[in-house]
Amino acid sequence: MKIFVFLSIAALCSAKSLLQNEFLHFLAEQDIIPAPSPDDLIFTCPLKCICQIQVVQCSDAGLKSVPAKIPKDTVMLDLQNNKITEIKENDLKNLHLLYALFLINNRITKIHPKAFRSIKHLKLLYLSWNLLPQLPTNLPTSILELRIDDNKIKKIPKNAFKGMTFLHVLEMSGNPLDATGIEPDAFVGVLRLIYIRISQAKLTSVPKNLPPNLYELYLDHNKISSLELQDFRQYKDLYRLDLSYNQIKHIENGSLAYLPNLRQIHLENNKVNKVPASIKQLKYLQVVYLHNNNISKIEVDDFCPKESRIKKLHYSGISLFGNPVKHWEIQPASFQCVSGAHGVQLGNFRK
Ligand SMILES: *[C@@H]1O[C@H](CO)[C@@H](O)[C@H](O)[C@H]1NC(C)=O
Ligand SMILES: *[C@@H]1O[C@H](CO)[C@@H](O)[C@H](O)[C@H]1NC(C)=O
Repeated sequence: MKIFVFLSIAALCSAKSLLQNEFLHFLAEQDIIPAPSPDDLIFTCPLKCICQIQVVQCSDAGLKSVPAKIPKDTVMLDLQNNKITEIKENDLKNLHLLYALFLINNRITKIHPKAFRSIKHLKLLYLSWNLLPQLPTNLPTSILELRIDDNKIKKIPKNAFKGMTFLHVLEMSGNPLDATGIEPDAFVGVLRLIYIRISQAKLTSVPKNLPPNLYELYLDHNKISSLELQDFRQYKDLYRLDLSYNQIKHIENGSLAYLPNLRQIHLENNKVNKVPASIKQLKYLQVVYLHNNNISKIEVDDFCPKESRIKKLHYSGISLFGNPVKHWEIQPASFQCVSGAHGVQLGNFRK
């Protein structure tokens, strides 16, 4: 029924507006949408935008500010690729139904602390590729996904995501953030965050103040030089960990053993000089990327422990090319717990 109603609205939106008003009244009588107020009867669509059933698209329109007169029933507002410099106090006023707001690739330096005050159902907020010097304050607590890559954010202060119980995905790559910039109580109250990406930042160590129930953590393209014993202690649910393109040389024995559920680890393009000791203890680990490191020797039990009770699942992929190890010195038994003919990529050796 609902689908039918939306399709009907879609069809009617392109019909005459008188017909549309009648139809909106009809929907209101059926309790499908709130009754239109006299204001709403004048159908408005901001200049340079395209409006279609509660979706307002104003991308690539050279806009320098958020357009006025956005229809009040808008659920999706697309303002990508413009020249907007600021979100002012009343720019988003009355958009009570807004569900998704896309502001990627503008020149935003400022978001008024009250800009979101009437928005209660926002789920997706994309602010990547702007010039924000800090996280916006008073974000709607309903947000599921926040993308704020490639801004100028140096700090995640205490209570930065206050009340954002539902936040699932946070993308914060390409900001000048280091691990000390993430304050101890930065994620207080965030209970369901399962995915964080802080790639291409200025991290020199693994941040310790992220929420404990993460599934996926991406810290690639940073300047992390070692993994310490306590680094992953609180991230026991991690499923996928990406530490590629760092400067990791030293991995403290046992540091990865805190990750019993790990399925996939990316350690490629670092300076690792031996296979991390705890790898073989991770019984669900399936994919290990270790290519382009400085590993010169593979021990027979580096991947496959002698006591078969430890490792339960077989590996499906191990990459080791681009390491100085001499392949003729590797014993075939080293990979006895790898499945498939192409499970191990040794590739060409430097010497
Ligand atoms: C790493 O720690 C485990 C026990 O936690 C121990 O059995 C093993 O010998 C250690 N390996 C190295 C290289 O220190
Ligand atoms: C690689 O390891 C060797 C010792 O095995 C060391 O002499 C060399 O400096 C290391 N290279 C890098 C880039 O860390």
